[in-house]
Amino acid sequence: MKTMATGASRCIALLFLLALADTSSAQLSTSFYSSSCLGVYSAVKSVVKAAIAKEKRMGASILRLFFHDCFVQGCDASLLLDDTSSFQGEKMATPNNGSVRGFEVIDAIKTAVDKACPGVVSCADILAIAARDSVVILGGPNWNVKVGRRDSTTASFSGANNNIPPPSSGLANLTSLFAAQGLSQKDMVALSGAHTIGLARCTNFRAHVYNDTNINSSFAKTRQSGCPKTSGSGDNNLAPLDLQTPTVFENNYYKNLVSKKGLLHSDQELFNGGATDSQVQSYVSSQSTFFADFVTGMIKMGDISPLTGSNGQIRKNCRRVN
Ligand code: HEM
Ligand SMILES: *[C@@H]1O[C@H](CO)[C@@H](O)[C@H](O)[C@H]1NC(C)=O
Ligand SMILES: *[C@@H]1O[C@H](CO)[C@@H](O)[C@H](O)[C@H]1NC(C)=O
Ligand SMILES: *[C@@H]1O[C@H](CO)[C@@H](O)[C@H](O)[C@H]1NC(C)=O
Ligand SMILES: *[C@@H]1O[C@H](CO)[C@@H](O)[C@H](O)[C@H]1NC(C)=O
Repeated sequence: MKTMATGASRCIALLFLLALADTSSAQLSTSFYSSSCLGVYSAVKSVVKAAIAKEKRMGASILRLFFHDCFVQGCDASLLLDDTSSFQGEKMATPNNGSVRGFEVIDAIKTAVDKACPGVVSCADILAIAARDSVVILGGPNWNVKVGRRDSTTASFSGANNNIPPPSSGLANLTSLFAAQGLSQKDMVALSGAHTIGLARCTNFRAHVYNDTNINSSFAKTRQSGCPKTSGSGDNNLAPLDLQTPTVFENNYYKNLVSKKGLLHSDQELFNGGATDSQVQSYVSSQSTFFADFVTGMIKMGDISPLTGSNGQIRKNCRRVN
């Protein structure tokens, strides 16, 4: 009898501790809004659809916003905060300045979502859902998005500069910057397949097309013609990350790498005689393998340090703290 009572109270104490631990590390879930805002998905999708119909590149730009948000203090919409005279955000950090775009679309989504369910959906979840919708609309895989993130009240300019890999990175640096976020080298190679859509500026591919040797020489010449050698001139001239189909989400990015037509130095590093060559080859042979690994990577990336429970806030305006 005595042992049973002790056993029972131990059990209750253990359950209590588990419950405590659970509130401090609440999990994202695909059903988070199923009672509070079932309409969130159609609201996000219709705005993303309209934005991509207006400009195909926007799908790429939105996908990149999610990546640049998640790599800096987690997927907490810190990237969306505007600079003010008393607040330094992330938008002016080197990987973002003059490059990240699509904030007006995120604002329009927020307006639509708040019309459906005022004050319920975080800007961080809007980024996650809009990124998925962008991939699907451009022909890529679908998945159920885990939600329940809340928005930060802070941002990190230095985090944006230090955590987001520059295009000059070698394979070891790419791998270590992803590892720092809890993502494997395999995730890194799969997520880089996002470069099957979108554009890059001359300033980010100049050194690769003029100075690198692991590049097809006729491709290098073509890209040089739109990107003056001297830094400062034509810095913002654009070229497609996937040379043939920059508005279609498929495995062509990897096909480019195998023929040494990656646009960025960092892209070609994934197929340059190293440990990731075989993974690149496997995605060339099987688009469905790429899609499956990309989805796994996106879900893992979306899980980076979310604010949940009573942490953070649901911003009224994605550009500022309440
Ligand atoms: C592996 C390391 C990565 C590096 C070094 C890198 C670097 C870059 C650079 C330099 C650009 C061009 C920016 C500009 O010139 O304005 C770019 C564009 C882009 N990146 Fe990445 N990126 C990486 C990974 C990713 C990941 C993981 C995603 C998403 C899952 C992503 C999505 C995109 C997209 C979609 C664009 C085109 C955006 C647009 O057209 O507006 N990138 N990236
Ligand atoms: C951001 O880019 C603008 C325009 O190129 C430039 O004037 C400004 O100095 C940059 N800001 C930072 C913090 O690098
Ligand atoms: C990149 O790698 C070099 C050499 O291993 C190292 O010195 C440097 O700190 C790394 N940079 C990043 C951003 O990881
Ligand atoms: C190519 O490399 C040389 C030597 O490091 C450097 O001086 C030059 O600025 C580079 N050119 C480009 C376009 O990156
Ligand atoms: C480089 O690309 C061109 C155009 O696609 C192709 O004809 C050529 O064979 C390639 N060169 C090499 C060395 O693979």
